[in-house]
Amino acid sequence: MKANPGGQIDSGEVVGRDELIEQIWDTLDQQSIRMNAERRIGKTTIIKKLCAEPRSGWVPIFQDLEKHHTALEFALGVYREVEGFLSQRQRMARRAQELLKSLGGTEIKGILKLPAFDKQAPWQDILTKSLEDLVEAREKDNERIVLLWDEVPFMLDNISKRESQASAMAVLDTLRALRQELGGLRMILTGSIGFHHVIRSLNDYTNSPLNDAFPLEVPAMAPGAACELAAKLIAGENIATDNPQALAEALAQAADGFPFYIHHLAKALKSAKKPATPETVEAVLNRQLLDANDPWELHHYRKRITDYYGKDNEQAVLGILDGVAVRPKPVPVNELLAELKNTGVLADRERLISLLRLVEQDHYLARDSQGHYHYRFPLLKRWWMLSRGLENHE
Ligand SMILES: Nc1ncnc2c1ncn2[C@@H]1O[C@H](COP(=O)(O)OP(=O)(O)OP(=O)(O)O)[C@@H](O)[C@H]1O
Ligand SMILES: [Mg+2]
Repeated sequence: MKANPGGQIDSGEVVGRDELIEQIWDTLDQQSIRMNAERRIGKTTIIKKLCAEPRSGWVPIFQDLEKHHTALEFALGVYREVEGFLSQRQRMARRAQELLKSLGGTEIKGILKLPAFDKQAPWQDILTKSLEDLVEAREKDNERIVLLWDEVPFMLDNISKRESQASAMAVLDTLRALRQELGGLRMILTGSIGFHHVIRSLNDYTNSPLNDAFPLEVPAMAPGAACELAAKLIAGENIATDNPQALAEALAQAADGFPFYIHHLAKALKSAKKPATPETVEAVLNRQLLDANDPWELHHYRKRITDYYGKDNEQAVLGILDGVAVRPKPVPVNELLAELKNTGVLADRERLISLLRLVEQDHYLARDSQGHYHYRFPLLKRWWMLSRGLENHE
């Protein structure tokens, strides 16, 4: 296997996700799924594999929704996907086509040319009828549809900014209604931004539009699977080493089980001239973490803080993350509070607790059994310290 960090990989090259994929198919039997996880952990790779190798009885349809900026664009995007899908398989009277014709669409050689819509176009109807057509067509063959939708929060954010918050809320509400009305339909919704950020940014929105969907957390790879991926890349890239097993273990550990970083490390090792050892991995890792070009895109963890928590909370969040990073052991809330009070960054215990909850939700920190905070990913902690010039407290 060749290193391909960030690229699309064949489903046969997806390592270590079989159990999770089985769990996903089992869950889909009952309900839709919202997939939540840190960025670059392999969400898109998982749903692409679901699409390439569906369980029998399921018809998956994958769409990346990133490019849609209005509810209408989204509805038409779904319509086109459904049309493409249905026209390959069967011809039947289609509600969505009829609707679009009645709105001024014209059919030329069997292909519907869409009318120029104005803002009032009934996107909800277009979306609903498209999905009704789809579900009905597959029910005839006892098959169920699962829509694999990537970058949903990103699209909602686009719609909220370009169109209105009300439109983004209406999209969420319509999708929920569709999940309820179309019994056989399932969705897997995911994306690189957390849903909670988008929903929180929609002022006055008190619905829970996703609480019918199972929240599935995608973990980093288990050590065995991470090692397997590392070993395949070491072999595939012909990386010279006296001890491939020890090298694979070092690589998997250095990458914290993130497949994206394993690919990156393998690529970097390949260009080193001498045989690779666990010590080389350590040196390469350090170079990559310090590289001003930020090949692992880690700066994102710092940049997004202002967007995620607002300018008013920026200093407090930085204080929290710095305070936890410099301590070798997990940190009790009161210890953190005392430090932040001392430095004048934050004095209110309730505010500290609510910010801690947010940074935990965004995978910066986690809690041990005593409720003390530590970094969720040691790699992130290491990068954070390097990038902010921090040193360990004794
Ligand atoms: N199971 C896997 N086996 C092998 N390589 C993987 C696997 N999962 C992910 N990768 C590698 O990691 C890269 C990033 O994965 P992917 O794009 O799926 O992550 P993501 O969670 O969707 O990221 P983002 O949050 O940025 O959307 C892929 O391009 C691929 O190189
Ligand atoms: Mg992705």
